[in-house]
Parts: sequence; structure tokens; C-alpha cells
Amino acid sequence: MRQPALTSTSSFQALAAHASTARQWQLRQLFADDAQRFPKLTVDAAGLFLDYSKNRLDSRSVELLLDLARERGVERLRDAMFAGEKINSTEQRAVLHTALRMPRGKALVVDGQDIGHDVHAVLDQMRGFTDRVRSGAWLGYTGKPITDVVNIGIGGSDLGPKMAVLALRSYAHPRLKMHFVSNVDGHDMDAALAQVNPETTLFIIASKTFVTAETMLNAGTARSWFLQSAKEEDLARHFVAVSTNTEAVRAFGIDTANMFPFWDWVGGRYSVWSSIGLSLALAVGFGYFSDFLAGAHAMDEHFRTAPLEQNMPVLLAMVGFWNRQFLDAASLSIAPYHQDLSRFPAYLQQLDMESNGKRVTRSGSAIDTPTCPVVWGECGTNAQHAYFQLLHQGSDVTPIDFIAALRATHDLPGHHDSLLANCFAQSEAFMTGKTAEEARADLQAQKLSEAEIEALLPHKVFPGNRPSNTILMDQLTPSTLGALIALYEHKTFVQGAIWDINSFDQWGVELGKVLAKNIHAELTGAVQPERHDSSTNGLIVMAKAAQHL
Ligand code: F6P
Repeated sequence: MRQPALTSTSSFQALAAHASTARQWQLRQLFADDAQRFPKLTVDAAGLFLDYSKNRLDSRSVELLLDLARERGVERLRDAMFAGEKINSTEQRAVLHTALRMPRGKALVVDGQDIGHDVHAVLDQMRGFTDRVRSGAWLGYTGKPITDVVNIGIGGSDLGPKMAVLALRSYAHPRLKMHFVSNVDGHDMDAALAQVNPETTLFIIASKTFVTAETMLNAGTARSWFLQSAKEEDLARHFVAVSTNTEAVRAFGIDTANMFPFWDWVGGRYSVWSSIGLSLALAVGFGYFSDFLAGAHAMDEHFRTAPLEQNMPVLLAMVGFWNRQFLDAASLSIAPYHQDLSRFPAYLQQLDMESNGKRVTRSGSAIDTPTCPVVWGECGTNAQHAYFQLLHQGSDVTPIDFIAALRATHDLPGHHDSLLANCFAQSEAFMTGKTAEEARADLQAQKLSEAEIEALLPHKVFPGNRPSNTILMDQLTPSTLGALIALYEHKTFVQGAIWDINSFDQWGVELGKVLAKNIHAELTGAVQPERHDSSTNGLIVMAKAAQHL
């Protein structure tokens, strides 16, 4: 259905009028005025807790934000997604990553096919395979069990499994070492191959389309490297494929019995739940992989059924929208206070920015507001010693999502309290800042002269009033990780609905791919680059000259 321009809607206008006052509010004051602010502006679901009270809004702001969500049809679009309607309008596809985590026995008929049944048939195939590799029953060509798994894929066929394998390293099989090669840069493959032995290595070629240039080049390199020691007939024990493209898998030379399929209704950046998660299932075992799916399903059920006032993905999305729209926050920083979540910001970059990094609506008109912020981040406490300076005292307001587990998955004494203390202290400091009076009192306590105090004072003031969310879980487990990822998937979905973006295509990555193909031909062939601008021509000539030295 064609949506009216966002700014023309009555709920947006009511919100904008409210925001013109609200943007002057001070968080310190909001907390001082309302002792109930924390219980009012927190919510829990699926093993996660969200505190969004340290944002520059109040209960009335939330009401108005939810009015907007209703007017933009968030609930209708959500129900259409879960029902398998073709909401990916530019590709005429359903969007059903949620079906990948439905419990066994639940039917969902799409285009006359019960996809619940299909999903569980592939999960059974994954279970059989992962059990054999993990137990040592699956043997390499010289009769030895697999010790190393190299996942070759890029984008959604890399970021999800890589992030999750790292996040769940405490659950991993002690014999299996996981490697991920994504970059077309040969240094990536070179580093992985230097660590593995062809007799005991399993390569997973993970590509939805099985035509992605980087993955195909890397897969070919791995195959040639393997065939330096082994024979063609040994390939079947060492190469498996995860794809929707059976023909291309066969043409590459992988036995389709060793292919784990999935479907075009799974977007690349939403595919960790499909057979793209094979490397994760190998690392942690099928039981924990099932827990991972179950955690996401619990968040799906919450998103599908909870009233908007208590709906965690909706609230997270609308608070993000508020910060983007009314506080001009052009970026969002993700700060996991958990080293095992170190790849989570990179994962969210693709999820959010490939989904909502767009400037036209579903029907092709220009969107009349800013859209997806730049997403970036790093683990705390490392981030504190790198760029938090800018977040505290820089000229821009950057909202932060703090993510932490209340209990560690290690038993080293002393560390976890210190980690959590830092996490909570940072969100407090961003909120309260330090006034000139407070800074002056500190400097006076250090017995500095008045002249010294005056000189230092401007540098010691923190403006504060900087918004943040805190997401807590008891422990980082397969289930809470599943819920956390699903939370952000649905947040992205809701923001897409507000902006009237199709969050499920990615045409923007195409142009560079086409140009790279042309330039590759010029770099490797006799053709002289002439048709580009002088900069691009010049760079190509330099590279050609260097390679022919
Ligand atoms: O970069 C575009 C993209 O299509 C991503 O959306 C996707 O995750 C990635 O390429 C990899 O695609 P494939 O799994 O088909 O190799």
C-alpha cells in the first residue's frame, strides 16, 4: 500500500511539535523529576532486558512514537512478514527468516509449500552431518578426523556465522578450529591456509547465489590448494556447499549430496539461522544451535504478540528513530561490554545499513527525512581508551547501545565486576556529564590556583545529556545470543516500516561489482584504461606497472 510522506502524517506532526520542546530537556532533570523513570522506561523479553530511560524522552514521547508506529502500519507489515507475504517488493519475495526458527511441527504454507517441513528437513541434514564431523566419524581422505573448518563466504554468508562462533566460543568443540575467509584479498586466504592441513580440513563454500565473485575466487583457490595434495575423488570428503543454487554447486564440482540448501525467502544478512549457520552448528553442536534458534523464536513471539508499549524491538526502533530524527544523531555506536561479542558491531553494520541505508520509499519516492544512521562500534572497555573521548566531549551527539551480560562465562576472579562497573559508569557519565560548578569544585579540591582553574575549566566540563540504551542478559548463551540478534533484526524491520523502506533488497552494492569487473579486465589484460576519469586511469596504470616489475 502506498504510504503518505512521513512528515505529512498527523502522528509525525504531533511528535515533531512535542520534540521541539523535548529536545531542550536535560536527562539529569528528567531523572530528578521522576523517581519511577527506570521502571517506566525499561522492558524485558526473551531473556533480555532493555533500559531506554537514558534517552531524552518521556512517557508522552513514547506514546507519540507508538502512535507513529501504528499510523505507519508496523503491525500490519509485521503480520504480513510472518505470514509469508511478498513484502520484499522489488524482488517479489517473501521474507521468512523467522520461519527458520519455528519449532518442529509448526506449519507455514507459502506458495502451496509447507516451509516448516522443508526447514526441519534441512536442520535434520545439518544435525546428521555435524554429529558425524564432531564425533570424528567423518574422515578426511587419509582416514583422519576433521580438525579445521574453513567457511568461505562474504557478507551475510560470513558475518553472522563468524560473529556467532566467536560469541559462543565457550560452547565450542575442543577439536574443531573454525576459520573464516571472506575477503578477495589473497592475504585472507593465505593466512587461513597457513594454519591448516588438507588431510584434516573441511571447507564450507557458503553463498546464497553461488556466483559472488569473491567467494567463487576463494573457493577455487581452496580447491586448487587442496588438489596439490589430494585427488579429485577426495573432494567430497572435504568440500561442502551451502546455497540456494544447486546447478552452480554442481558445476563447481561439489557433490549435491554434500549441499545444504536454503531458500530465496532468506535474505543474506538474515541467513545465520539457515544452513549458512553450518559452521556455527559444527562449532557448538546441534543442541546448542537449536537453543540459538529457540532464543530467536522467543523474541519473534514477543515481537509478534506483545503490545507495542512493551514490545522491545518496537521500543528500541522508535527510540532510535527519535534520536535520528529529532536529535540529529547521524550515527549509532554499539558498545558490547563482552569480548565474545567483538564482531557484533560489524554484524549489525550489514544488518542495519544494508537493510535501511536507502533514500527512496517502497514506491520509489524520495524519503523526506534522514534514514539509517551509520552503525559502528567496538567492545568496552577497549572503546573507552580509543574513541569515547569524542562521544563524551565531541561536537556531535552519538547515541550508544551498551550490551552486557550480568554473569560471565569464565571464572576468572575480579574481571566481571570491573567490566560491569565500567559499563554502568559510562552510561551514567554520558547522561550526567559534569557541569562547570562540579568541575570547578574538583579543581579547587586539588588546590590549584584560580588562574590554573580558569585555564583548565573549559576542558574539564562534560556536556552530558547524551542518550544511550543498555541491553542486559543474564549470561551470553546460545539462547540469549539468538534473542539479541532477533531483537536487532526486528528493530531494523520497524525502522524500515517507519521510513517506508524495503529493508530486504540491496541494489546499492551492485554498481561497484560491475565496475570492478571492468577494471579487473583492464588490470589483467592488454587493454589500456582510457575510459575512466584521470584518477581512476592513473591508479590502474600504477597497479599495472607495479605488477609487471
Ligand atoms: O553484498 C551483497 C550481498 O548480496 C549480501 O547481501 C550478501 O550477504 C552477500 O552479498 C553474499 O552473497 P552470497 O551469499 O550470495 O554469496
